[in-house]
Amino acid sequence: MRKKGLTIRLMERGKMLILKGKNVLITGAASGIGKALAECFAREGSNLFLGSHPREEDQLCRWADYLEHQYHIKTKKFPVDLSLASGPELLYRQVEQTGKTIDILVNNAGIMLYGDFANLPLDGQLEVITVNAIAYLKLMRLFLPGLIEKKSGRILNVVSASAFQPTPHHAVYGATKAFVQSLSEAVGQEIKSSGIKICTLNPSYTDTPMLRGKGFPKKLWWYSISGLSSPENIARKGVKAFKKGKPIYIPGIQNWFAASVLTRVFPRRLASYVPSLVLREKGN
Ligand SMILES: NC(=O)c1ccc[n+]([C@@H]2O[C@H](COP(=O)([O-])OP(=O)(O)OC[C@H]3O[C@@H](n4cnc5c(N)ncnc54)[C@H](OP(=O)(O)O)[C@@H]3O)[C@@H](O)[C@H]2O)c1
Repeated sequence: MRKKGLTIRLMERGKMLILKGKNVLITGAASGIGKALAECFAREGSNLFLGSHPREEDQLCRWADYLEHQYHIKTKKFPVDLSLASGPELLYRQVEQTGKTIDILVNNAGIMLYGDFANLPLDGQLEVITVNAIAYLKLMRLFLPGLIEKKSGRILNVVSASAFQPTPHHAVYGATKAFVQSLSEAVGQEIKSSGIKICTLNPSYTDTPMLRGKGFPKKLWWYSISGLSSPENIARKGVKAFKKGKPIYIPGIQNWFAASVLTRVFPRRLASYVPSLVLREKGN
């Protein structure tokens, strides 16, 4: 047992994290980026603990069966609603009851409401905060002590390129992403000496059901600059960066330039004015 722990630690000190045999918990794994991430981890030989909204349980079961047969890995399924105050604790307890410990937590489940702040329903905006920010925070807080105790493991928070500047027309969504980004970087520093890393994956707009939700425009001006990535492409690049231990990974050079360079050189006023132009529907 001690020997296995030592081997895992030594592998983590090497250049690339070895994912084979690791227990990976992924939230929102029945759709979009989470579903694609699950396949990337399965391809690497990780055993998967797959979370989904209860309404997606059938989809989750079908996806888990496919991954088990295709990649000869083990999966467990956790259909838990993370918008409920007790959701993250329930997920944590259900994982604990399996008797297995998690090596990697992937916080991914998220929702978006598109529209102007003053017009969107308040309860919907609070739900965005609960799923995108509070659930991430709670799951980090619940799983981190176990990782620190065994001095091994990583957290991957799927955030967004929206984390680095205000996002008019989906203001609350961007604010939740900025919160998780700040939290990830700060906690990452606090636990540096434990050997645990917290990484963020910060995609720009990606072609998933999230962008097909009610109210989301068919085309944004920003797509002319950044295009629209596929979830499979984002997941493949994201897992590669995660294995290398990159603390922040923004796929796409133009997205990296906008999020990492322009937001620093632009005066703060411009950093919210430009998004107000490019994050609206093309044609308006
Ligand atoms: N798509 C983009 O342009 C983009 C860009 C940057 C970052 N991201 C981030 O990537 C992550 C994944 O999003 P996606 O684009 O892949 O969207 P998606 O296809 O809609 O996937 C999100 C997943 O989270 C699940 N979920 C939502 N509410 C939940 C709840 N209360 N409890 C448990 N699970 C819940 C969804 O279930 P249901 O389908 O049942 O709601 C869905 O499976 C999110 O954090 C998102 O903010 C997305």
